[in-house]
Amino acid sequence: MDLISILNEIRLLVDLDSIKNETSELQKKIFKAHQKKSISYKLNGNKQTISKELIITELQQILKTKTLERTRYYLSRLIKSLEIRKEGKLNDINLNRWKEYDDILTDSLWIFDKRDTSGVHKADYWGNFIPQIPNQLLRRYTKKGEWVLDPFLGSGTTLIECRRLGRNGLGVELNNETAKTAKRVTNKETNKYSVTTKILRDNSGSIDFKTKLQKFKIKSFQFMILHPPYWDIIKFSRKKEDLSNAGSVQEFLNLFGKVIENAYPYLDKGRYCAVIIGDKYSSGEWIPLGFYVMQTMLKRGFKLKSTIIKNFDQTTAKRNQKELWRYRALAGGFYVFKHEYIFLFQKTGE
Ligand SMILES: C[S@@+](CC[C@H](N)C(=O)[O-])C[C@H]1O[C@@H](n2cnc3c(N)ncnc32)[C@H](O)[C@@H]1O
Repeated sequence: MDLISILNEIRLLVDLDSIKNETSELQKKIFKAHQKKSISYKLNGNKQTISKELIITELQQILKTKTLERTRYYLSRLIKSLEIRKEGKLNDINLNRWKEYDDILTDSLWIFDKRDTSGVHKADYWGNFIPQIPNQLLRRYTKKGEWVLDPFLGSGTTLIECRRLGRNGLGVELNNETAKTAKRVTNKETNKYSVTTKILRDNSGSIDFKTKLQKFKIKSFQFMILHPPYWDIIKFSRKKEDLSNAGSVQEFLNLFGKVIENAYPYLDKGRYCAVIIGDKYSSGEWIPLGFYVMQTMLKRGFKLKSTIIKNFDQTTAKRNQKELWRYRALAGGFYVFKHEYIFLFQKTGE
């Protein structure tokens, strides 16, 4: 359909009634002619698509408008959204078509009913995050072809999402077996955008990023996603460099701080970094790990951009003990954890 020409012709009609009649005809044609979710149109000889729902909504708005001036304004806006991409510096979202991205979250409360288990994603690594977290963040804070660093790689969830979304990714993981499994699983994910995925077995607090980046011909990172151990809630290894083996909160924060300092120079200025972390309960006291970690980031030159609260998947063991935990909470005067934090930071300094 030569949608743009049709809309331009409608816009040039002299009176409101004619504009509305022709718009109504176009709307009927779109309803009838296209069974699919999106409709195609031509732009400079190339085939483009727009969601059918979106164009119908836009045409409905035009039909409801009462003045000629306003109607023409909405028509021009619709034509512009079909002709011109408007992208920011951080992502590939076309702001002229922002209504099409209704699955991209913009509120600070994230509630997911179930984890995405499609493709090679699995829930079997104890302590992994749900793939929807990196999926949302990568689409908001990176463009296709950019580089992402995950210094607490675990099972490789971030890198699997990187491959799906066409982002290059480097993951660092302290444990040999975990790194090996992540490599094997990640490589199984289809690489339709031909991106590069690298996994290193190392300590993120001391790894020589400069040499590694030179070796892999990576200039810098455009996004970092950090999902450290929630101190000692899950012990990931016996290694002393492992954050889950820190002897105290302060030691945990020092080890986390080392990772930040080590990676910081390689994140581009103005770009974002996300930290996913939960709090912990110990000896009758709520330890606000999340807030401590946030402070650690602020002290190292990051600017806080958002605090997101995400519902927490209870482990199977805890789910089976739901009644017991409810009793304990009632008796002990505390609340059962049901949330974790996603802190969003921007690098402002050099
Ligand atoms: C919470 S898990 C990350 C899970 C990951 N997001 C996923 O979806 O599988 C934290 C990971 O950090 C690793 N780790 C702990 N200390 C580390 C360090 N100093 N350097 C690199 N990795 C470390 C642990 O072995 C563990 O796999």
